[in-house]
Amino acid sequence: MTAVPDRAADFPILAREIHGRRLVYLDNGATTQKPQAVIEAEARYYRESNANIHRGVHWLSQHSTDLYDRSRQRVRGFLNAARVEEIVFTRGTTEAINLVAASWGRTHLKAGDEILLSGMEHHSNIVPWQLLAQQTGAVIRVIPVTDDGELDMRAYAGMLNERTRFVGVCHVSNALGTINPVAEIIRQAHGVGAVVLVDGAQAVAHQTVDVQTLGCDFYAFSGHKLYGPTGIGVLYGRKELLDAMPPWQGGGDMIHTVSFERSTYAETPQKFEAGTPNIAGSIALDAAIAYVQDIGLDRIAAHESGLVEYASDALARIPGLRFIGRASERAGIVSFVVDGIHPHDLGTILDMEGVAIRAGHHCAMPLMTRYGLPGTARASFALYNTREDVDALVAGLCKARRLFGMEQSA
Ligand SMILES: Cc1ncc(COP(=O)(O)O)c(C=O)c1O
Repeated sequence: MTAVPDRAADFPILAREIHGRRLVYLDNGATTQKPQAVIEAEARYYRESNANIHRGVHWLSQHSTDLYDRSRQRVRGFLNAARVEEIVFTRGTTEAINLVAASWGRTHLKAGDEILLSGMEHHSNIVPWQLLAQQTGAVIRVIPVTDDGELDMRAYAGMLNERTRFVGVCHVSNALGTINPVAEIIRQAHGVGAVVLVDGAQAVAHQTVDVQTLGCDFYAFSGHKLYGPTGIGVLYGRKELLDAMPPWQGGGDMIHTVSFERSTYAETPQKFEAGTPNIAGSIALDAAIAYVQDIGLDRIAAHESGLVEYASDALARIPGLRFIGRASERAGIVSFVVDGIHPHDLGTILDMEGVAIRAGHHCAMPLMTRYGLPGTARASFALYNTREDVDALVAGLCKARRLFGMEQSA
């Protein structure tokens, strides 16, 4: 096992106890914990650099603007975007997708056009497209998911046609951990002239992402799932697409000139960043990405895949436990149900042991319907998790079975 777990000491919250037990945090798919470097970057900004950006001639305002711009540069390098103008700051993945649906979608889609979404999307990559479909008459079609939790690529190929305008797909499923073959999905979509948005919310903390190699048109992620703060996220968009898109929110900072007759707009990306942005959040995101880069995403990925393997072996020995999603390519997530125990009961019993997991539909209700389940229990890993954390999860599940009057696990 790599030395990544040594970094647990960087995360102050991991030292606290919950219900008198050591905190075992396995809900990283929902949000990751923050290292001291990120907490300190945000605090330092307010202590030493706070001023509004882009508006002041005074030193602090320029300094604050420099820090904000530096963060955008960091994100550019992180995603290997060709140009810094292709990085738009948003509140998170959800807002990034809503931006694309509202701006690109409203200007490019008409009645009868087809939007393809995968059957394993988070609600945030479903509902914005439904709203758009209701407004435009466009039609949503769903790429089916196999029993193993993979996208049915043969069905996908058969669904693409000259009416397909848009394909929305998650890079990694938040409910199953499946890593989707997004490069191939994009290649085929481009073959019929469709635009592709990749929801990278569950990918960026677990693997290197190169938007140019993928060839995607849009890529979205949230800072808080990448050891950064809440309230900051990123939309990557190819410059020629962003340049041709209208603003989606109006206000300060996104304009060039304003009169009561007519306004002209700033260039991309400012055009999409109306109002005072989350300056502190962007600076803390810069620190979070620097932190991850310092460790190396390859090391993090290797560590987490070792944990998924270890957890899969250990959980498979628990009688009545069934994995949901057994895709050949998976990242950082194990999803399962236990016969006779509702996932919420599992979550509550584990919580009493200090083990935090997620239980429920994971904002992927259509996927749960696909499997005929109300929800699953999900353990999701981060760079600071260890085999001892997995052992605590397994011990908690065995206890849950005992409490429910089931025989001792093997
Ligand atoms: C795959 C996926 N997409 C989108 C989101 C939404 O992210 P946010 O709530 O940060 O906007 C999540 C959050 O769980 C997710 O897992």
